[in-house]
Amino acid sequence: MAFLWFLSCFTFIGVTYGCGSPAITPVVTGYTRIVDGEEAIPGSWPWQVSLQSGTGWHFCGGSLINENWVVTAAHCGVSTEDFVIVGAHNKSIKTEVGQISMSIAKVITHPKWDRFTVNYDVSVVKLASPAHFNSKVSPVCLAAASDYYPAGMMCVTTGWGRTRAHRTSRPDKLQQAALPLLSKASCMEFWGNKITDIMICAGADGASSCMGDSGGPLVCQKNNVWNLVGIVSWGSGTCSINRPGVYARVTELRSWIDETIAAN
Ligand code: ARG
Repeated sequence: MAFLWFLSCFTFIGVTYGCGSPAITPVVTGYTRIVDGEEAIPGSWPWQVSLQSGTGWHFCGGSLINENWVVTAAHCGVSTEDFVIVGAHNKSIKTEVGQISMSIAKVITHPKWDRFTVNYDVSVVKLASPAHFNSKVSPVCLAAASDYYPAGMMCVTTGWGRTRAHRTSRPDKLQQAALPLLSKASCMEFWGNKITDIMICAGADGASSCMGDSGGPLVCQKNNVWNLVGIVSWGSGTCSINRPGVYARVTELRSWIDETIAAN
């Protein structure tokens, strides 16, 4: 008996939370087309974090990439005074089961970050202590530098950003929206030469990220795992569902992320 108990216990603690594989499967309605998105199934985007100031104000999203590090946007301006909330669905219920507020040890911003062109919009945030993975907290995979994500591919963006630009509608519950990737050329039809090779566009097809989603994920599924392909960066000031949102292009930032977290 003791031996059997040992075996089952070992299996239990041996559960591994591989990247990009939520224990709670997300359901994205229709993959149709966080303006005009929908509420997520609680816990189904386990890498999503809320970045909050000391007063509990949500100002940006982010993605856990391992137990110590979160990827977010440079323009979020995260500081070590802020907090990373993991395991949240309703960001306004601080007592929500599984929701944990974590302190920040370091914030490192890409050396080429340019606030005027919004190019290289990426920072990595080191937690003061490691996050413990469970069914509602686990990392996303980072897109590989050599990965190719074609225009038209349906991906998903998630966040607590506004659900309408013209109203002060700030949802408490995590929202999701499916949206297609655009080629650089078709994105430039909307945004001209503001679009650089370090950006990737998605949307213009019935849904949009909006203010407060910044720093959060644009994920695409490949071989059954979700990869972080974009970081919510900028877009239409009215979050128009007919204009593409612009995301920092993770394939181009992957080597800097790898080198930075390895050295810190
Ligand atoms: N920059 C915005 C933020 O700080 C996010 C932009 C998202 N997309 C858009 N269409 N405005 O939260």
